[in-house]
Amino acid sequence: MILKPLFNLLYLSLPFLHHHVAAVSLPAPSGPNNVGTYNFFITDNARNDVFAPTPESRRILMTLYYPTNSTYASFPHPDYMSPMVAAYYESTEGLPNGTVKSITTNSYYGAPVKSRNVKLILFSTGLGASRYVYATLAEDLASHGYMVAALDATYDSPIVEFPDGKVAVGNVPEHVTVDAVIKYYNERVKDAVFTLKSLSTASLTSVIPGVGEKGLKVEKVGMVGNSQDPRGVDLDGSLVGSVTQNGLKKPFILFGREGHNRTNDETWKGFWDSPSKGWKRELSLKGAEHVTFTDFAPLVEVLGLKNLFPKEDIEGVVGTIGGLRAMTIQRVYLKAFFDKVIEHCKGNLFNGTDPNYPEVSFI
Ligand SMILES: *[C@@H]1O[C@H](CO)[C@@H](O)[C@H](O)[C@H]1NC(C)=O
Ligand SMILES: *[C@@H]1O[C@H](CO)[C@@H](O)[C@H](O)[C@H]1NC(C)=O
Ligand SMILES: *[C@@H]1O[C@H](CO)[C@@H](O)[C@H](O)[C@H]1NC(C)=O
Ligand SMILES: *[C@@H]1O[C@H](CO)[C@@H](O)[C@H](O)[C@H]1NC(C)=O
Repeated sequence: MILKPLFNLLYLSLPFLHHHVAAVSLPAPSGPNNVGTYNFFITDNARNDVFAPTPESRRILMTLYYPTNSTYASFPHPDYMSPMVAAYYESTEGLPNGTVKSITTNSYYGAPVKSRNVKLILFSTGLGASRYVYATLAEDLASHGYMVAALDATYDSPIVEFPDGKVAVGNVPEHVTVDAVIKYYNERVKDAVFTLKSLSTASLTSVIPGVGEKGLKVEKVGMVGNSQDPRGVDLDGSLVGSVTQNGLKKPFILFGREGHNRTNDETWKGFWDSPSKGWKRELSLKGAEHVTFTDFAPLVEVLGLKNLFPKEDIEGVVGTIGGLRAMTIQRVYLKAFFDKVIEHCKGNLFNGTDPNYPEVSFI
C-alpha cells in the first residue's frame, strides 16, 4: 500500500518574517533502550532504475534505527533531515528557514548496535514522502528493541541525498494516475526485497557500527507502510497489488483516519473480503487526518504552529485529535502489533476498544 502524497501539507500564504525558531525535540521514545542510528546505502546492480533521467543502477538509501547501549549517549544526535530535504519541506510547507534545523532527534548517530541479532521492521514511506518524516515512530520501535529500516524510495521521495553526494529529485507528479502509482509501487516492492537480502549479507552489514564481520542476523521481519509479504501495518494508505484480491496469510492491520475505512476504500474492502486466513484488524483513529500518521502531527504541537496558522488549516492537515496524543496512540498500537506477531506477546489491545485509548475504534 502507498500513502497519499504529503504535497501542500501546510499551505499558507504569509512568510514568517520575524518568527524566532527555537530548538525543539521530537517526542522522546517510550522504550527502555537508547536508540542508535546509521545511514545505510545499497546499490542493486542487477536493476536499472526505471525512474532515473539517465541510465543508472537502482540505489536505495535508508536510515537504520536500533537499540544501543546507554554507554554511547555521547554520540551526536543526527540532523532531523539532510539539508536539501529540510529546505524542500520548509519551502513546500511555508515554514521559516531554519525550522527543520531546530528539530532535535533522540537517537545517537553511529552508536554501535546492541546486538547483531535483529528483529527487523521495514518502514516504507507514503508516496512522495521522505523517510525522515516517520522518525517519531521509528525511534520508538527501536527503543523497544526492534531494528527499523526507514527507506527512501529513489525518485519517489522528494529528494534523496546519497552519502556520495549524488542527489535524486523525486518525480511523482502532483496529480498521479493509478497506473503511475502502480509503477512506483512495483519498484518499492523490489526495493524491499533487495533491502532484506542486503541486510542479511555479512559483507554489506559489517559496516554498520558494532555489527562485526559476521554481519547482521535478521531473525524476524515486519513491515509498516507498503507491504506484500511480511506481517505488517498500513497507516491510512490505500492498498496496491494482489493483496486487494488475495489478502494475506500473515497478520495485518489497516489503521485509518476517521472516515477512511473499508466502506469507502475499495482496496481495503477487497483485502478484507478476500478468503485468506491471515489475522487482521481494521482500526479507526478518531479526529485523525492522513498526515496525522507522520511526524508532522507532533511537530505541529512542539513547533507551536497552532499559534501561527489558522486553526482550520491545521485541523485540515493533522486533524483535531492533537498530534502528541495521536503519536502516543500510534506508538502503542504499532509496538503491540509487532510484540504480538514477532515476539508472540499476549495482550488484549486488539480485542476491542481499550478504555485508555477511546479514540481507537474497531471496524
Ligand atoms: C552497557 O552499558 C552499561 C552501563 O550503562 C555498561 O555497564 C555495560 O558494560 C555496557 N555493555 C556493553 C556491551 O557495552
Ligand atoms: C537559510 O538560511 C541559511 C543560513 O542563514 C542560508 O545559507 C540559506 O541560503 C537560507 N535559505 C533560504 C531558502 O533562504
Ligand atoms: C466508515 O467511513 C464512513 C465514510 O466516511 C463513515 O460514514 C463511517 O462512519 C465510518 N465507520 C466507522 C465505524 O467509523
Ligand atoms: C483477547 O483475545 C485473545 C485471542 O485473540 C484471547 O486469548 C484473550 O483471552 C482475549 N482477552 C479478553 C480479555 O477477552
